[in-house]
Amino acid sequence: MQPTLVYAICSFNDIPSRQAIGFHLMVLEDDGNHRPWPIIVVRWGKKVLGYVNKCPHHSVNLDWEQNEFLDPNGIRLMCGKHGSTFELGTGRCVEGPCQGRALTPIALVVVDGDICAVGVHLAEDDA
Ligand code: FES
Repeated sequence: MQPTLVYAICSFNDIPSRQAIGFHLMVLEDDGNHRPWPIIVVRWGKKVLGYVNKCPHHSVNLDWEQNEFLDPNGIRLMCGKHGSTFELGTGRCVEGPCQGRALTPIALVVVDGDICAVGVHLAEDDA
């Protein structure tokens, strides 16, 4: 049985509650190639949620201004291109041109105060 892959992305305390931050990570494919993996991490109280940072409408990053992910009310994710809004808890688009579609969720856990991605093989950052 393969061990579960767990990679720390940031400290839990790096993201204030009710805020979302983007990370530009790299996934290591089975063939050794690296594939960009931009993600959004949302913290809501003690809960963390993650989605791939790719709008289902035109496959662009949601944050047209860096790390501007939330709608003006701060309760949904919003795409900066055409204004689609997405439920925080499900990633489902509830308003805008991609209504009925959804962001791709990613599995996150908090381990020893770090927010970690689970089940993906990330390329280590040499920097
Ligand atoms: S590209 Fe996101 S709503 Fe159109």
